[in-house]
Amino acid sequence: MKDIGIYIHIPFCQSKCYYCDFCSFPGTLDNADKYISFIKKEIDMYEEELKDYNVGTIFIGGGTPTVIDGKYVYEIMEYIHKKLNADRVKEVTIEANPKTLDQNKLQIYKIAGINRISVGVQSMNDAMLKKIGRIHTVEDFIHTYKLIRKYEFNNVSFDLMFNLPEQTLEDSIRTLELATELQPEHISYYSLKLEEGTFFYDKYINNQLALPDEDIERDMYHEGINLLMKKGYCHYEISNFAKKGWESKHNIIYWKCEPYIGLGLSAHSYFKSNRYGNTENMNFYFEQVSNKRLAIEEKEFIEKDMEMAEYLILGLRLIEGINFKSFEDKFNINIKEVYGKTINKFIKEGLLEESKGNIKLTLKGLDLCNIVFMEILP
Ligand SMILES: C[S@@+](CC[C@H](N)C(=O)[O-])C[C@H]1O[C@@H](n2cnc3c(N)ncnc32)[C@H](O)[C@@H]1O
Ligand code: SF4
Repeated sequence: MKDIGIYIHIPFCQSKCYYCDFCSFPGTLDNADKYISFIKKEIDMYEEELKDYNVGTIFIGGGTPTVIDGKYVYEIMEYIHKKLNADRVKEVTIEANPKTLDQNKLQIYKIAGINRISVGVQSMNDAMLKKIGRIHTVEDFIHTYKLIRKYEFNNVSFDLMFNLPEQTLEDSIRTLELATELQPEHISYYSLKLEEGTFFYDKYINNQLALPDEDIERDMYHEGINLLMKKGYCHYEISNFAKKGWESKHNIIYWKCEPYIGLGLSAHSYFKSNRYGNTENMNFYFEQVSNKRLAIEEKEFIEKDMEMAEYLILGLRLIEGINFKSFEDKFNINIKEVYGKTINKFIKEGLLEESKGNIKLTLKGLDLCNIVFMEILP
């Protein structure tokens, strides 16, 4: 049986962070009970389609899945096990905001089969946490982290951000130093991206947000990579680092173009050569699903030329790059026949490097990856 990943989106947060445009609605927790019952209805709709698939990974993301009552997380997991083939699931992640976790929830997660917790830490500096609209302090986070370890979760990831307003290089490195002292198995290290519709975006447009210079932003990235590698983390994807063997199995599905199903608001799927995304509108979601229809807003059949391009673009996000033989096994064509010119051009420019039947981005290529990706698109 082929493996499939399941993503479940929980669109609730205690309050909105200033930089975030993820689909979440603070102050609507009253809808949680109904929402979870609708996730189950969506699972019902996939039961027949997925009967020949083995659920390999589950990712409960958001929003803030830890803001809802722990019993809902248990119910979702129980329902997945009842309706889908999930006996051999390898990795079950929940995203957590430090302020919204407690002993009771951790106990339930353990029983529910959650085996990986991804904590939104962002910064190890209280003034910075406040500046970006977080609801927790560093102390809150450390308290939560100790609880997570107390309940014997042995696979913990931290989300950290850099390129934050008025941030110095020293501050970004200090955050990494303090975070690595806690020895998480995995670290995501994201550069702040200004997203339209966020509080920060509006401030920026009105010249009220001072972000680090581009050079400093790149220094934060490069020095961050050096520090994390020195501390024993393997750089395995543009923004992701892990102790050996603790890479995120679920996220690797995305980068290797393997199939996954997304449930809930704004969740995306890649299944049987189609990419599609659910609506972000709660009422439309409820209306569609109560009529036994998927709440899909956009759907695209991925033709072979696009499939090859996606395989290359997403695969190059992985630091190990792309193996020529794997490409040929998947598409029955030599990668050089399709992309030879582009590959050679970027090798000459120092953005790609080839060795032992493999291509990958160089350090310069990691900085300029969008130029490479744009050229690969058909
Ligand atoms: C769904 S949140 C993680 C869990 C939880 N909601 C929390 O924030 O604690 C996903 C992660 O994406 C990152 N993120 C969100 N918006 C971003 C942005 N505009 N630029 C860069 N990273 C961002 C943050 O590191 C955040 O922790
Ligand atoms: S970063 Fe996390 S907690 Fe903050 S608004 Fe986004 S999803 Fe919610």
